Amino acid sequence: MPLEDFDSPAEWRQDLDRRWPERLAIQDRLVAEVSAAVDQCGDSISVLELGTGDGSLALRLRSNRPAINLTAVDRNAVLCDYGRGRDEAIQWLCRDLTEPWRDELSGPFQIVYSLQTLHDLGGRDVLAQTYARVADALGAGGVFVHADFVEPMPHDDPAKPRRFAPDVHVELFSDVGLAATLVERRDLLGCFVATKT
Ligand SMILES: C[S@@+](CC[C@H](N)C(=O)[O-])C[C@H]1O[C@@H](n2cnc3c(N)ncnc32)[C@H](O)[C@@H]1O
Repeated sequence: MPLEDFDSPAEWRQDLDRRWPERLAIQDRLVAEVSAAVDQCGDSISVLELGTGDGSLALRLRSNRPAINLTAVDRNAVLCDYGRGRDEAIQWLCRDLTEPWRDELSGPFQIVYSLQTLHDLGGRDVLAQTYARVADALGAGGVFVHADFVEPMPHDDPAKPRRFAPDVHVELFSDVGLAATLVERRDLLGCFVATKT
């Protein structure tokens, strides 16, 4: 199944899970970190997901912690409509994260999280810009749980790499006032917890 075939969102996500089996452990870690952060902050807090895909992660988090106010952003209209059909209590926003999305969202958010999405945005500059937008969207002491590739791939364009080693991420986080730790790594994927200092 092509990676950009969104006609059947559930099958598309299952295909991601088959291609990168390490997603499952990384996803479990991300859910555990977000849930722990919710427990620290209190229930009715604002949480933002970037790049929601078929919405499975958002639904899982809402079933764990039903009182959170969750906003879910993805650029793909099919996926956003699909997510909306699964849980109308989540605010589904169809937006391109390379555009200035921050001003459209009220915030501040206590927690932002993202799974295997930000490498798609186009490279180091836009990743740095996105980290800056996340830092701006977070309230004081807010937490960004970010899971994505932590190793360059052989077919990446060397002139415009999109996947970076953990130390690059930590430096980019630090540049925007986020103190980050890689809390788990499985094969190509890693999960960072970054706190707004
Ligand atoms: C590999 S999928 C991961 C989906 C989901 N987070 C998961 O792990 O199941 C990447 C997601 O990012 C979204 N995406 C890619 N580029 C984007 C952009 N520029 N703005 C918003 N969403 C984007 C895609 O539509 C897709 O849903």
